[in-house]
Amino acid sequence: MYKAVNFKLNGEVVSVDVFGDETLLTVIRTYLDKTGTKYGCGIGQCGACTVLIDNEAIRSCMILVEDVQNKEITTIEGLESKNGDLHPIQKAFVELDALQCGFCTPGMILNAYGLLLKNPTPTRQEVLDGMEENLCRCGSYNRIIDAILKAAKELNEKVKI
Ligand code: FES
Ligand code: FES
Repeated sequence: MYKAVNFKLNGEVVSVDVFGDETLLTVIRTYLDKTGTKYGCGIGQCGACTVLIDNEAIRSCMILVEDVQNKEITTIEGLESKNGDLHPIQKAFVELDALQCGFCTPGMILNAYGLLLKNPTPTRQEVLDGMEENLCRCGSYNRIIDAILKAAKELNEKVKI
């Protein structure tokens, strides 16, 4: 049976008719063509599919789309400003070369964003703790942590997230 689900995706109201139990990840990627959010493990273990739901970092492979009815979802496509400027977290990842293949990067950035919304001035250890369940097969961990700390500093100096 088809169900209509409405939510906001990167600031725009979207309405999708889904058949059966579809995860938010499937709907974002397949129904709405936003492929920045990655399918890694599909079982909540890697963090590649992380998005923000009402500003909370959540694994989109583990949540049914009907459970985000009327909520606000942010994906990696929603982080750039309207004029195309990268978000400070994205910029820091580029500047510090915090990626190799890039597959984990959208999930890393969204998880970091959720972390900085909760704790804008984290210590290195707090960033390590907050990011420890997001996996990077390329092993870019040190540069990822450095980039998040750099972004936190920049955001605290001049930009409100
Ligand atoms: S794809 Fe969702 S946690 Fe791995
Ligand atoms: S950069 Fe390749 S998985 Fe993280």
